[in-house]
Amino acid sequence: MPDNLGTGLIRVFPDLESLSRAAAAWFVRQAKEAAAARGRFSVALSGGGTPRRTYELLAAPPYRDEVDWPRVHVFWGDERCVLPDDPRSNARMAREAWLDRVPIPRSQIYPMDCAQAPEGAARRYETLLREFFGGGPPRLDLVFLGLGADGHTASLFPQTPVLKERERWVAAVQLTEPEPYRVSLTAPLLNQAAAVAFLVAGPSKAGVLKEVLHGPYEPDRLPAQLIRPESGELLWLVDEAAAAGLQ
Ligand code: 6PG
Repeated sequence: MPDNLGTGLIRVFPDLESLSRAAAAWFVRQAKEAAAARGRFSVALSGGGTPRRTYELLAAPPYRDEVDWPRVHVFWGDERCVLPDDPRSNARMAREAWLDRVPIPRSQIYPMDCAQAPEGAARRYETLLREFFGGGPPRLDLVFLGLGADGHTASLFPQTPVLKERERWVAAVQLTEPEPYRVSLTAPLLNQAAAVAFLVAGPSKAGVLKEVLHGPYEPDRLPAQLIRPESGELLWLVDEAAAAGLQ
């Protein structure tokens, strides 16, 4: 049952499959609305494991046949700074699960490509976004986000300087070794989106999801709490295992 909290609308699903079908259906709806209203649809993708099934569903009927793919522009919410064929690459996962199987013009898929010089890659990506939005507000039509067990989202990790970023739209994030550098959209940019959907599944997320949604506002410890679209929809698509701690 939908449950509208101050932190957005929460929809609980029996399992990852039904959650993923809802996410794919929402993508289709948002894509149709944006293409009709503005002639194009911009989406920023999450990495990690949870969204993979959603991506696979979008690459196959019925969802695949519902999207006007030449109007779709694909960005990423974050990327690990590894080579494009590295198994840890978020872009590689999305290409294999989905993007290589639908007719989006290759020029409309914008990987972050930060394996070399993460800072420079972050600056280039911000320039790309500024050009895409033509100097206007950077209002992505849809952002898919995940939730780490430590409360991070995108590559906004606890106690990292990027959490304090208020101006830049894209930033390089240095984690502790052996984790590679990352590049991430920042909270100021993510909060300009027209719609943000967190996809959260599995028992390992039950504790952190309860803290993020029902606990005190402590974004340095729980960066996902930074995500509050200023004038957009916030939707939490969660499975029952992850929702176990919610009222
Ligand atoms: C990444 C993701 C990251 C992810 C969370 C949850 O680059 O890893 O963007 O923010 O969404 O870590 O990952 P899972 O879905 O695999 O639990």
